[in-house]
Amino acid sequence: MHGADGHHDTRDNSGGLVWPAEGFGRVPFELFTDPAIHVREDERLFRGPHWSYLGLEVELPNPGDYTTGYVGATPYILVRAEDGGLRAMVNRCAHRGAEVVREPRGNARGFTCIYHNWSYDREGRLTGVPWEAGRDGVGGYGPGFDKAQHRLQPLKVAAHAGVVFGSFADEPPPLADYLGPAIAERLAAVFARPVMVTGYQRHTIRANWKLLYENSRDLYHAPQLHKFFGAFGIVQPQQDARAEMWHEGTHCLATIWQDKSGRKKRIKLEEPGVATERSSLPDDIAISIIGIFPNCLFTLVGSAFSVRQFRPKAPDRFEVLYTYFTYADDPACLREHLLQNNQFGPAGYVAMEDAEVVEKLQARIALGADKGASLLAMDGGDTTPDRIDHMVTEANLRSMWRGYARFMGFAPPDPRADLAAG
Ligand SMILES: [Fe+2]
Repeated sequence: MHGADGHHDTRDNSGGLVWPAEGFGRVPFELFTDPAIHVREDERLFRGPHWSYLGLEVELPNPGDYTTGYVGATPYILVRAEDGGLRAMVNRCAHRGAEVVREPRGNARGFTCIYHNWSYDREGRLTGVPWEAGRDGVGGYGPGFDKAQHRLQPLKVAAHAGVVFGSFADEPPPLADYLGPAIAERLAAVFARPVMVTGYQRHTIRANWKLLYENSRDLYHAPQLHKFFGAFGIVQPQQDARAEMWHEGTHCLATIWQDKSGRKKRIKLEEPGVATERSSLPDDIAISIIGIFPNCLFTLVGSAFSVRQFRPKAPDRFEVLYTYFTYADDPACLREHLLQNNQFGPAGYVAMEDAEVVEKLQARIALGADKGASLLAMDGGDTTPDRIDHMVTEANLRSMWRGYARFMGFAPPDPRADLAAG
C-alpha cells in the first residue's frame, strides 16, 4: 500500500529501503542480495553523475590503440584517436546490439561488427553499412538513412595523472573535484615516474561487489585476516595509518606507513625475497589503497602496483579486472622481485583471502536477506568522519555507506524511528 501521505512517499523515494535507525553503523543485508538494488545501482551509480575508471593512458600510446572494459553492466571501448585524444564509446553495435570489439585490447583503424559488418571509425562514427543503397536497384536503406544518426554511444572522458575515467552523465563534475585533493595528489605522486603495464588478470567472485569495495578500506581486518601481513611484519595495528574520504565518504585514500618500531619479525624465512618490501612510494609509505567510487581500486605496495575495475554482474556475482603496473625505469632485478612478491590477483597471498571471505559472507547473508544487518560500530558507533588517523576503526566504512545511501536516493537513518516503533 502506498498512500499519498508523506511517510509512504518517503519509502517510495527510497526504493523501498529504509536505513536502520541506529545509523550507518548498521548495513542492511538486503543491499547485497536484492535484484532491485542491483538494477538501481547501475542506473544511479555506474550510469549516474560519477566518474568510472576506464584505463591507463600508458596502455594507449598510439592512435588506434584501444582497450575494453565495463562501467557497471555496460561494455565500453577506450581508444586513442587520430588527434591524440582519448574517446570512449559503448561496445554495442547501433544496428542490432552485437558486441563490436571482441578482443580485450589491441590496435585498429576502426571497428567492424561481425553480424552485418557495420563499421565504425575510432571516434565511434558509423562509416560503413553493407548494401546501404541496395543492390541492382532494389532494397537497401534508401536516401533517408543518415549514418550520423547511428553511432556508438559516447561516454565523457577525462584523465588525471594518466588515469582515464569515463562518465555517462551529461554534465559530470570536473574530474579533479570529483577525485578530491588528497587522491589527486597521491595519483600525481605515484604517476610522476613513467610506468609500464606488467600484466592483466580477470577474476569472478561469487559475492556482491560492495563487499570487496568495502573490504578494501577495512583496516581492522588487514592484520587479522591476512596472517601473512602480521607474520612478516608488513601490517600491524600500531603502524601509522590514515584514511581520507571524499565524494560524500565513498572514495577512500588509505595510507599505511612503514613500521619504524624496530620490532623483530616473528618468522625467519629461508627465502626472504618472498616477503621483502622495497618501497618506491614517497614519504616512507608502505601501502596505499585508493578506492575511487564506484568502480576503481588502486593497490600500491612497494613498487608492485595494480588497479582493479569492479564489474557487477548480478547481486551475488562480480568480476574484477586487474591491470598490474610498475615503474618503467626500475632495474630488471626489481621487476623479478615483483613476480615473487605476489600479494594481489586471484591467487595473491592477500587478495585470495579477501575473495574467499567475501564469498563466505555472501553465502551466509543470502540465507537471511530480510532479517539482518552488518555491525560497523567500532570507533564512534554511528559517526561518519572524513579523516581518521589510525587503523582501529570502522568509521571509514560507515562514511562509505553514508555516501552510497545518498547517491542511491535512500532515506537517511531517522533516529526517531526507534521511538515511534517503541
Ligand atoms: Fe584484505
